[in-house]
Amino acid sequence: MTIALGIETSCDETAVALVGSDRRILAQSILSQIAEHRPYGGVVPEIAARNHLIHLRPLLEKTLQQAQLSLDQIDVIAATAGPGLIGGLIVGLTMAKSIALAKSKPLIALNHLEGHALTARLTDAVEFPYILLLVSGGHCQLLLVKAVGDYQCLGTTLDDALGEAFDKVAKMLGLGFPGGPAVEAAAKQSTLRAQQGGKIQSFPLPRPMWGRPDPNFSFSGLKTAVYQQASSLGPVGSQLPLAAVQDLAASFQAAAIDCIIDRVDCALKRIKQQKITLKGLVAAGGVASNQFLRQKLQALCGQYHLPCIIPPPALCTDNAAMIAWAGLEWFKKGRQDGLDTLPRPRWPLDPNFTVSYS
Ligand code: KG4
Ligand code: ZN
Repeated sequence: MTIALGIETSCDETAVALVGSDRRILAQSILSQIAEHRPYGGVVPEIAARNHLIHLRPLLEKTLQQAQLSLDQIDVIAATAGPGLIGGLIVGLTMAKSIALAKSKPLIALNHLEGHALTARLTDAVEFPYILLLVSGGHCQLLLVKAVGDYQCLGTTLDDALGEAFDKVAKMLGLGFPGGPAVEAAAKQSTLRAQQGGKIQSFPLPRPMWGRPDPNFSFSGLKTAVYQQASSLGPVGSQLPLAAVQDLAASFQAAAIDCIIDRVDCALKRIKQQKITLKGLVAAGGVASNQFLRQKLQALCGQYHLPCIIPPPALCTDNAAMIAWAGLEWFKKGRQDGLDTLPRPRWPLDPNFTVSYS
């Protein structure tokens, strides 16, 4: 068995994992910096980098101890090299390079998005090709995953990422940080009230890009519409009536996810026209931990008789097991990166893609 060490420091999670080529996660540790960033209502890059620097080494030692392994027993060192916040990327990649140099081990400097893209092969051994819906704080894309390293972008967001829209709506509604889980929890309260026969308010919101022939997304208009509806409840930033906030969160979540389902449907139709036989639809990235989205994607896949594979929530949000696994996938193909590899704050999965829409 080959064992990879994975290091993830591209945003506000410091994460280390040890994964075997038999798809077993031998140990993993994640340190969330939510408390440090909460007072600012978002991730502060400088604070993130400093925290990675403080916590990465103890976290590495703890993870090795958990698995009862030493660095000498690791076969490959994988770290996120981009895209992400440059300070954090430097910390994680430099740690990986140092270990690779000191222990004469191969280094693999990975694309973070590739980690998300290949997680379903770690959890469910899904085969190629599959459609990937990648929905995180910085990305909202549909990709055709043909092989390790072969990703064809089918569509992307023209403005905000879906996670970013959830985060901004949460901020408007005073639901706190991080916004995605807070919006989902508030929306759940609204649904519960409805199920118990209580009164709920339904806010009319637009579905941007609905029915368009290219599977692109847009969320800025929806976000503005939520702002307008929130303003009708009282000054945004002040404490708004709780029940109305929960109902507005539910209306936003329903609208955003309607858009996602329509765009995924558009991509699936296109793939069908091209007579490509898919092995499944995979969702990944932080927003893929949203239960409402998971249910809707399952239902859509049912219509296409297509397996719907969504890793457990803890492997949808940022983690190092996905980095270790992507490292193993590449190691099998003989890849090894030089110690002079630089971190890349921007790094698209499909460099040939330029967005076009009609
Ligand atoms: O993949 P991820 O952990 O980090 C990035 O690479 O961006 O995704 C974080 C994003 C944040 O915008 C967060 O609010 C969103 O995922 N998110 C959610 C949920 N959990 C996390 N959005 C909606 N519902 C959730 N349950
Ligand atoms: Zn991510």
